[in-house]
Amino acid sequence: MDGNGRWAAQHGLERFEGHIRGVESVRRAIQAATRHGVRYLTLYAFSTENWGRPAAEVDALMELFCKSVINETPELAAQGVRVRIIGDKSRFPEKVKHHLDQIENRTATGKRLTLQLALNYSSRSEIVHAMQGLARRAAAGIFSPEEISEQTVSEALYTAGCPDPDLLIRTSGEQRLSNFLMWQLAYTEFYFTPVPWPDFTKEELMKAVEAYNHRDRRYGGLKEE
Ligand code: IPE
Ligand code: MG
Repeated sequence: MDGNGRWAAQHGLERFEGHIRGVESVRRAIQAATRHGVRYLTLYAFSTENWGRPAAEVDALMELFCKSVINETPELAAQGVRVRIIGDKSRFPEKVKHHLDQIENRTATGKRLTLQLALNYSSRSEIVHAMQGLARRAAAGIFSPEEISEQTVSEALYTAGCPDPDLLIRTSGEQRLSNFLMWQLAYTEFYFTPVPWPDFTKEELMKAVEAYNHRDRRYGGLKEE
């Protein structure tokens, strides 16, 4: 979800106003996903690199995460959405951690859509964290190094149990991954749009899905007749 700050600047507003508008787009995207039978949606909300922003913006984002989580939890639970935080929660202030734990607990039985929120997320850190876990288990003799496989690595990531994404959407014109789900996106279709995240409507989402429907996924094989 990129382009909140630029959207705000284009409208003569503070960056923070862009983040507030971005929450509206999050709500729309989740609604569209549940209505159209999407089973898994992952939103990249805050990267490990985002701590490097000015303190005022980081603080405002933390407040916004708490507020949004509190406001949205009842509706998400009612809609059958299971929220799962991916990333390193330990670095968040206690209050934020508390609210993140609460939304996970209160939506734990949701079966309709799994919503993964990437918060303090970095794909490289995720992979390192997974490797450390596997190495520890190997060192403890729980399994042999030969048992490290694509499957056991996948299961050691924050996204364990979640299928690899079919479609990646990045808004606001940048065409890069920025440390997002690098292992999981091996065969994902990429869709880049210049539309900034606050302007990413259901129609824009449908355009992305439409583009996806015209992709020819061969997974390195040949086209099927
Ligand atoms: C995305 O919008 C939201 C977060 C990273 C929290 P940006 O804040 O990156 O907006 P731009 O890229 O500065 O326009
Ligand atoms: Mg950005």
